[in-house]
Amino acid sequence: MERTYVKDALGKTGETVLVRGFVDNLRDSKYMTFIVLKDITGKIQITIEKEQHPDWTELLAGITGDSVISVTGQVNSNDYVKMGGVEILPADIFVDSVAEALPIARKAIPATKKKKEVERSSIDQRIDYRWIDLRTDENQLMFRVQTLMVNSMRKFLLERNFMEIHTPKLIGAASESGADVFAVDYFDRKAYLAQSPQFYKQMAMAAGFERIFETGPVFRAEKSYTNRHTTEFTGFDLELSYIDSVKDVMKLEEELLTYMLKEVHDVYGEQIKELFGKEVIVPTAPFPVMDLKDLYEALEKEYGLVVPEEEKGDLTTEAEQMSFRLAQEKFGSEFLFVTGYSVEKRPFYHMRDEKGMPQGYDLIWRGVEITTGAQREHRYEILKKQAQEKGLGEDVAFYLEFFKYGCPPHGGFGLGVDRMTMLLLDVSIKEAMFLFRGPGRLTP
Ligand code: 4AD
Ligand code: MG
Repeated sequence: MERTYVKDALGKTGETVLVRGFVDNLRDSKYMTFIVLKDITGKIQITIEKEQHPDWTELLAGITGDSVISVTGQVNSNDYVKMGGVEILPADIFVDSVAEALPIARKAIPATKKKKEVERSSIDQRIDYRWIDLRTDENQLMFRVQTLMVNSMRKFLLERNFMEIHTPKLIGAASESGADVFAVDYFDRKAYLAQSPQFYKQMAMAAGFERIFETGPVFRAEKSYTNRHTTEFTGFDLELSYIDSVKDVMKLEEELLTYMLKEVHDVYGEQIKELFGKEVIVPTAPFPVMDLKDLYEALEKEYGLVVPEEEKGDLTTEAEQMSFRLAQEKFGSEFLFVTGYSVEKRPFYHMRDEKGMPQGYDLIWRGVEITTGAQREHRYEILKKQAQEKGLGEDVAFYLEFFKYGCPPHGGFGLGVDRMTMLLLDVSIKEAMFLFRGPGRLTP
């Protein structure tokens, strides 16, 4: 018999179906056993009247929570059943896989008369058994949302003449700055894991691709233990040619994010509210923009934040967090573009204006950086000089070649997919990733 998804089974009253999935819940009483079966489309109750199946005693005793079962039976309409007013009266139950007692508690379980309270396992314990943790409704929603996030951005860009590319993650020279890269053995020499597709995105511009994006792994050898850093994450990067200034890049980004969040809001807004208690707010373009200098002035004036002068070329973590409040109170926005970062704090490939200011920005959402973007320097001689000033020589020689044989003016940005997911649902980065990687975490 062909398998029916739970969602479809709910509408097949009177018919006999085969449903397959995990045992989401199990209730056993003297005369009845109730099993809630869950598949990727929903949940359905399996109702077993024990008297009718005297030979099932052993079978039912062997079914544990989280076991995988296949059930054939008639779909019955029953107003007493909470789950859609429908149940399955099984004619046959097959246990595909028995689950042992779970090694983690995915949720806190309040104390009962017979049992004492169970505390929820920590996120680190849950990551040890991430595949069990990922079975929850919340986590499955999270990855559906992430799928839509990436897919709607892809759709938006494809409709605007972008191409999707896939650049190598094994590279022969440490990229961008030399710091923060993982070295790996590559036969008789060293290779490095790409810390950004930056150089290759720009190579695509030199190749005349004009508009490209890529979503793929990004590696950072940073020993950070925060709720927003990981050593491997998924980047959503894009690059476009024939821009007049960095403003064109920012405009594209605000349109892209507005489009994406509208889709997420329309499709999953209700469920996100229900399971994560978070409102999906669709922003309106243009997003507010503040120069770093003005931002520090405002943060000091409004909230008394005092930052030493020498730190003001970059956004400090505290200022970044506080900027959320400012963005909301001053502009009624969850987003804030910040410009005016110092040359010392920005990579050599950012274009500079006549005053020497890098033509780049960060986008802060809910008080956390989600993007760094810029217009790039496409003029070979200037780029070479800027690289030398930062002490970069041989490592970027191959990259500089891209600009010697014709290259349009261009710019782009990199967006952290895991950060976006984490901020959207108000969880930590460990919770937001399929499988977190950090300085102390390489398994499972
Ligand atoms: O700001 P980053 O380092 O910028 C670049 O990689 C540039 N090449 C992008 C460009 O086109 N100019 O990284 C881009 C984004 C960050 O804004 C953040 O969202 C995310 O990637 N990100 C991280 N996410 C998780 N863990 C980390 N350690 C991250 N580092 C950056
Ligand atoms: Mg950045």
